[in-house]
Amino acid sequence: MIDAIGYIFDLDGVITDTAEYHFRSWQRLAQELGIPFDRHDNEALRGVPRRRSLELVLKGRELPEDEMQRLMARKNAYYREFLHDITPSDLLPGVGEFLAEARALGVVLGLGSASKNARDVLQQLQITGLFSAIGDGYSVVNQKPAPDLFVWVAGRLDLPPDRCVVFEDAQAGIDAAKAGGFRTVGIGPAERVGHADRVVDGLHALKARDCLPSL
Ligand code: BG6
Ligand code: MG
Repeated sequence: MIDAIGYIFDLDGVITDTAEYHFRSWQRLAQELGIPFDRHDNEALRGVPRRRSLELVLKGRELPEDEMQRLMARKNAYYREFLHDITPSDLLPGVGEFLAEARALGVVLGLGSASKNARDVLQQLQITGLFSAIGDGYSVVNQKPAPDLFVWVAGRLDLPPDRCVVFEDAQAGIDAAKAGGFRTVGIGPAERVGHADRVVDGLHALKARDCLPSL
């Protein structure tokens, strides 16, 4: 066993492919509004909270607050249509093995997701019980790229940031973790997460024992 180390995971795009569902839901809303929105536009939304995402979808159009609220609720309803179909088989490749190996090593696990749906997604995946701390879209005021969410999760794990590693697929998420003093593993292309300490395609490409921070 090793001494108190934490691994903190983003959810959407790291543990399961809900990043794709967020994209399709925003695209559906944008289409209804007559605003072009493609995968390239979507890159800027990755890891970004719901309200900021809507502002980016609207591309500078200003709407009254009640309309903003309605549009966010509509997008969330579209997104939640996808959630019903999520099962444990929707873990991304290697995730189940990675989490199990980390726990066997004695690493404590935390979740740091900007999503207000994070707990429901974990339930559908049947992995809620693996996490000692769950930070989501309700946990802090300032979401990624602010470091607050990861700092909050580390606090719940009772660990300082330099004893934790953050796993993220979003530029804003790596920015947040680095700002908080965490070691980082970027999941995805270098154009997005190349500023992480280490970059891989997915958790399938890693062994949990190879990610321990050098202390
Ligand atoms: C992040 C996703 O995890 O959560 C973003 O990467 C999403 O795409 C954000 O906008 C907020 O999610 P939700 O479920 O609260 O709308
Ligand atoms: Mg993500």
